[in-house]
Amino acid sequence: VNIGVLISGSGTNLQAIIDEIDRGRIKGRIKLVLSNRKDAYGLERARKAGIEALYIDKRAFNSEEEYNRKLIDELTKKEVELVVLAGYLKILSEEFIERYRGRIINIHPSLIPSFCGKGCYGDKVHQMVLDSGVKITGATVHFVDEGTDTGPIVLQRAVEVKDDDTVESLKERVLKVEHELLPEAIRLFCENRLIIEGKKVRIKWE
Ligand code: GRF
Repeated sequence: VNIGVLISGSGTNLQAIIDEIDRGRIKGRIKLVLSNRKDAYGLERARKAGIEALYIDKRAFNSEEEYNRKLIDELTKKEVELVVLAGYLKILSEEFIERYRGRIINIHPSLIPSFCGKGCYGDKVHQMVLDSGVKITGATVHFVDEGTDTGPIVLQRAVEVKDDDTVESLKERVLKVEHELLPEAIRLFCENRLIIEGKKVRIKWE
């Protein structure tokens, strides 16, 4: 399966996918990495792994739609079949979602539907978790639909919140789980074992 990865930051989730592919555990290959941030270290990680990595400057486009059309062009050129959002912090256009419906997955650092939605990403997620006093948080991989963090859930894994946790300590613990969950979801997708049934995903484990 040809994979395209969209990033905005350090790319540790991207690195986890690269490493898992290198271990021969994913029947897919990353054909392209796209970033909306020039300084995203993930671009460097891709280049080090010999993967084409492009910074797409949104200032070169007059609208979100045109920006997304550029993303679609680049992904189409590489015949991408699965789009992975790995720390990508921009909203995708309707056209993009339509074009890749059922083939876009995202990793979110909480147990959706808790602590997600517009404006709830990155460190803010962990701050809200700490402020809420919950004892369990986690990570979620889900298919992307028109909403924000609302598509069919593929995998989730719980992470304990400790009394003395800070955003940093909690983020680190959740990130470790993300780095296992996202490659696992991609592996299942590449083995054609994810069946979307309405709002739910059934996994063929056999
Ligand atoms: C992480 O918090 C992840 O949960 C979210 O984006 C953040 C950055 O991840 N999706 P990365 O290190 O850039 O992969």
